[in-house]
Amino acid sequence: MNSIWTAETEPDKFSRLDRDIKTDVLIIGGGIAGILTAYRLHHMGVKYVLVEKERICNATTCNTTAKITCQHGFVYHKLLKSLGVEGAKMYLQANKAALKEYSRLCKNIECNYEPKDNYVYSCDERKLEKELAAVEVIGADAQLCRRLPIPVNYAGAIKFSNQAQFNPIKFIKAISKGLNIYENTFVREMTENSAVTDSGTIYFDKAIVTTHFPFINKHGSYFLKLYQHRSYFIALENAPDVGGMYVDENKKGYSFRNYGSFLLIGGGGHRTGKQGGNWQELRRFARAHYPNLSEKYFWAAQDCMSLDGIPYIGNYSKNTPNLYVATGFNKWGITGSMTAAMILSDMLTGKHNEYAGIFSPSRSIIKPQLFVNGFESTAGLLTISKKRCPHLGCALKWNSAEHSWDCPCHGSRFSETGKVLDNPANGDLKTRKL
Ligand code: FES
Repeated sequence: MNSIWTAETEPDKFSRLDRDIKTDVLIIGGGIAGILTAYRLHHMGVKYVLVEKERICNATTCNTTAKITCQHGFVYHKLLKSLGVEGAKMYLQANKAALKEYSRLCKNIECNYEPKDNYVYSCDERKLEKELAAVEVIGADAQLCRRLPIPVNYAGAIKFSNQAQFNPIKFIKAISKGLNIYENTFVREMTENSAVTDSGTIYFDKAIVTTHFPFINKHGSYFLKLYQHRSYFIALENAPDVGGMYVDENKKGYSFRNYGSFLLIGGGGHRTGKQGGNWQELRRFARAHYPNLSEKYFWAAQDCMSLDGIPYIGNYSKNTPNLYVATGFNKWGITGSMTAAMILSDMLTGKHNEYAGIFSPSRSIIKPQLFVNGFESTAGLLTISKKRCPHLGCALKWNSAEHSWDCPCHGSRFSETGKVLDNPANGDLKTRKL
């Protein structure tokens, strides 16, 4: 099961750490958020090291649909309520800055970068009106569209012009050249200024955790602030050009974009550990609407969802001044990772970043989703099952579409034989043969 990106290319390989070292900044986690942060620190002249427990970009980054956009579902009417006009404008501006930075970098990189319009569609007229009013208030360049070239039900869509799409692995391959990266280097223990791996200890002044789901449980309460969501994708060959990037505002809807002559369709999603439509639903949809096209690739992605739709970027917690984090990108990790890299590289070099405040991981957690997460965790802990998650002990559920054991509490996943596939669990199942 390769995504369309990894079927075509793979990131460069890096060696394993083989001694004790000292650095100013340690970055743990080699997805796009960690690599972009490393790239920026590298060009700012900061002494840094990035470690990745396996190969770089072999999880969420290689399974993304690689859309670069400021339009993250119907988020702006919610941000107006939670952050006010100035806060919602800041969120827009932070993402615009990320878009601009991608455009600058991609000028010199062969990574299929293409400016595209982004559309978020909805069947709900009331929601469309509310979001349209919100984007007008904050001055976003958006239009209401009533006709779309995709075979779904909708009342309309809100279009953001001049967003972009690319091939994330070709991009990473280019920007990671020359960076101080160690692969196959698993951090087993952390103290305030050291990280112990199997092949050496890294002494650092500051550390950044970009491991998708933050792995340190002692600080920051990320096991309350995040849950994980799975999405499924298929790529159809010799497909029509749909002309833009499309996503339903409803989490259960479909997404569309082209890549060359392929059409990428996403959907069938669900909270990790719960039931969903998965590839079966997508294949039924493709048979009904694109009966003459054949499927070439299929894959799935896992996203960390925050409580309020805003990523957590900044100090890991109030009590950890030298520890930083970037996580909770919801389903917009490509754009969010660039925002994170810009904020973190400024924070680490003592520069003021005007957007840092709205992404602070220490903001209030009193949101309705907190109670849903609390309920799921309690239910997971109380469910009787022999298969228990090594993270915090919840009962695992069998995912028949992917042949994996999935945890509904915080989203860890394990293969049929017990190998850990997705964190926050950081080790395999210790049960008998499954
Ligand atoms: Fe936390 Fe399973 S992922 S208990």
